[in-house]
This record gives sequence, C-alpha cells and structure tokens, in this order.
Amino acid sequence: MYNITYYHKLIINKEITIAQNERKSIHGQWSSKVLFIFAATGSAVGLGNIWKFPWMAAENGGGAFVIVYLASVALIALPIMIAEILIGRRGKQNPVNSLRYLSKEASQVKVYEVDHDLNRTKQTKYQHHNQEDYTNWELIGWMGVISGIIILSFYSVIAGWTISYIFKSFSGLFNQVTIDGATSLFKKFTSDAERQLAWHTIFMFMTCYIVSKGVRGGLEKAIKFLIPGLFMILLILTGYVTTLSGFTEGLRYLFLPDLNKITASVVWSAMGMAFFSLSIGMGALMIYGSYLSNKFSIFEVTSIVAFADTFVAILAGIIIFPIVFTYHLDPTTAGPGLIFQTLPIAFGSMPGGETFGTLFFILLFFAAITSAISLIEPAVTLLIENFRHTRAEASLKIGFVTWLVGIGTIFSFNYWQDVTILGMNFFNLLDALTSKVLLPLGGFSMAIFVGYLVKRRTSVAELKMSQSMYTIWRVLIRYIAPVAVMVIFTNGFM
Ligand code: PHE
Repeated sequence: MYNITYYHKLIINKEITIAQNERKSIHGQWSSKVLFIFAATGSAVGLGNIWKFPWMAAENGGGAFVIVYLASVALIALPIMIAEILIGRRGKQNPVNSLRYLSKEASQVKVYEVDHDLNRTKQTKYQHHNQEDYTNWELIGWMGVISGIIILSFYSVIAGWTISYIFKSFSGLFNQVTIDGATSLFKKFTSDAERQLAWHTIFMFMTCYIVSKGVRGGLEKAIKFLIPGLFMILLILTGYVTTLSGFTEGLRYLFLPDLNKITASVVWSAMGMAFFSLSIGMGALMIYGSYLSNKFSIFEVTSIVAFADTFVAILAGIIIFPIVFTYHLDPTTAGPGLIFQTLPIAFGSMPGGETFGTLFFILLFFAAITSAISLIEPAVTLLIENFRHTRAEASLKIGFVTWLVGIGTIFSFNYWQDVTILGMNFFNLLDALTSKVLLPLGGFSMAIFVGYLVKRRTSVAELKMSQSMYTIWRVLIRYIAPVAVMVIFTNGFM
C-alpha cells in the first residue's frame, strides 16, 4: 500500500534515494587503509597513554587498575570503537549529520505494493515512517562536540608542559637531577601561570593552524614518522629502566593485581581511561571513519589501533614505575605531574639523556597534536557543514573558546589551587566530567544506537566480518558493553 506523499518525499530526499555505495564523503577520503590506521592511531596515542595512564594507574592501585583497564578495552571499548567508526563511515559527514543519516536510514520500513500481474505483493522501496524518530540521536554528536572542546581545553595545557620540557631537556636542566630537583622544577613551572599560558596559546595556535588547512595534508605526513619514532624512544627508555634497582618492584606493582584494591571507583576510573585512551565516545573516530573508504575492514583497522594504543600505555607504565620505586616516590600522591617528575631523572642519569630527553618530549608533543586535531575536528566540521563556516573561521572560533576554557586549567595549578567543586579543582573536574561521564555516556549511546536501532543488514554490510566474529561483536555491543557501562557508572557514582 503506497502513500503518494511519502513517495514524493523519498524522491526529494536525496540522501535516502542515493544508493549507499554511491555515497561519497563530502570531505574527501583517506588515500589508503594505512593512512587511516595512522590517523586513528595518531588520535588514540597521545598524552593519554604516556601522561595520564601511569598517573591513573599510580592513583588507583597499580595492577588492580591495569587489569580492569585491559578488560575494559577488550569488552567495552573495542566493540564501541567498531560501532563508532561504523557510524562515521556510513554517515560520511560530521557526527551530528552522520547520526541523523543513520537514524533516518534505520527508521525506514519496507513498503509493499500489490503486483496485479503476478497477483502477489512485492517489496518496492524503503521509506521512513516517523519523521521525529531521528532527531534525538544527533544529540550524541552534539555531546561529542562539547566533550571534545572540554578535553582539548586541558589537553592543550598539558601539551604546553610538554613543549616547555623539550627546552628544559635541551638546555641540560635534567643533568644529574635528583628527585627533589625534578619535583621542584615541576612545581616552579606549574606555579607560573603566565608561562603556561604562553605554551597553551602556542599549542592551540598550532592545532588550529593545522586544522584550518584541512586534516589530510598535515596529518598524513606527520604520523608516518611519529609513531615509529615514539616506539623507538620508548624501547630505549625501557632498556634503561631495566638497569634500575626498582625495576622488578615497578613491574610487580604494575602487573600483579592486588584484587582487594579493585573498588567501584578504581573500575570507574579504568573504564573512563579506556574511553579516553582509545579516543572513543566523542566522535573523533567517527569523523576519521567518515574519511574511510568502504573497501576496508573496520574490524581489522580497529584491532590494530587498539593494540598499538594499549601497547604504548603499558610501555609507559613499564618505564615510569621502576623510576617511581627506585626513587621512593609515593605513587598515590604524585598526580598529573607524575611523568614530569620521574622522566627527567631517567634522562638526567642515562648516557645520551639530553638528546633522548629532547627527542622524547618532541615526539610526545607530536603525539599530543595529532590527538588534539581529532579532538577539535568534530566541532570544526560541524560548523563547516551545518553552519556555513569556512575551515579557517571554524577553527578560529572553536580554537578561541577552547583556549579560553583552558585558562581555568592553568589556574588550577596556581591561583585556583584551593578552589574545589565536589572536592576537585577545575582541572580535575573537567577531566572527571569527560573521562568518567561524557565519554562513557557517548559510548553507551552509540552502543545502543548501533546495537538496537541500526538494522542488522546495515551493520553486517558495513563490517563484513566472519559470521562468528560478527556474532561475538553483536553480543558485546548489545548486551555486554552497555550493561557494563551502566553498572560501572551507577556503582561508581554511589
Ligand atoms: N586518546 C587521546 C590520548 O590518549 C586523547 C583523546 C581523547 C583524543 C578523546 C580524542 C578523543 O591522548
């Protein structure tokens, strides 16, 4: 039975009538699968792995945290990452539009028409039955845009610390530095708001400059040498820490979980860290997925990215904890300054440390900027595609707002040190709000969206997995991941 007005709408609504395989991304495509893997790895690997992971592990009981983290990556983050890239690749626009497109597509119903010649009904078209159905889901996209801006606001400040440490290392400040020396160097730096503001401004400026030139140009070139370079230096550092007296104690702390330490709050932090580290729940990978050609297997690229990301985080832990135990730092109180207080000691006492230290912070800076680009990209493409901005205007506007919010984080380490909301300073509040609330919520909604709303035939067609892998993924995305997120979230909250 066939409704003429709907039929008209179908014709007018190009998005629906253009066959999926003819749809091209309106903002171009990665030229190869390897480039997508590089870009997604560039987004995932960043300050999260090297700065935040050791700090979080230290604060949450070491091995207890690590084991829950690994479980969260495998059972929650990985299936959601697949779902997020799926939305992006099928939607092919900014997160808001991609979600809108997919929910329109999902709300289509089969329309049957009586074929009088053959005297039977045949399916003629898909049409969507309820215009209102698809407006709510784009909220995930909006939430992601906001999460990205909030994360980048403090991410940029920490990236600024990294730039400053390039110069500190280069000028020999770390030579033979003691634990007290490294700590006071760090404290002196963070108490200086103007200096941090300068680096924060420079970092935001560079990020916006690259983004205003379009993602593909700069990124594709930079990431090729960045990731291998970072691996190399981490391996060199790993070699160094094996010589430390606290090496085995460090490893034991990291890998031997004290199961009594697995509390609701540890689990919540570990899950949040998995979302943060893999860049999921806010649309960064959705955007990158929208540049991914239909030819490539989402599952394959996702596994590679998740593996690389986890590897770097664990390696960072293997490096930091032996230093912590060799120099008798209290891991529970070190906080976000952990790597800035421990690594200088390593560089200060290893042969060639000045060079390695400088190189390390340069690479960390690059790792930070490739993540920063993915944090701002959803907001920028939204302004371009939906609000008629040029790339330059969009980058400038979003960059300015982000920069402004970032000042609050700078102040958290000096002027506003003692100003707390819910027991947290401004920086800790933004960090907790994004990692522990917004990203899990975004990921949860994506799981529900792809697991229940998106038609099975759509996800089968997009993922092209083997039957058994698809079934495992589907169980994870429909039951395990969303239930786990909700349980962890409510337990943590209480
Ligand atoms: N995953 C990045 C890191 O570990 C941070 C990030 C979070 C990037 C969310 C994009 C989205 O440094």
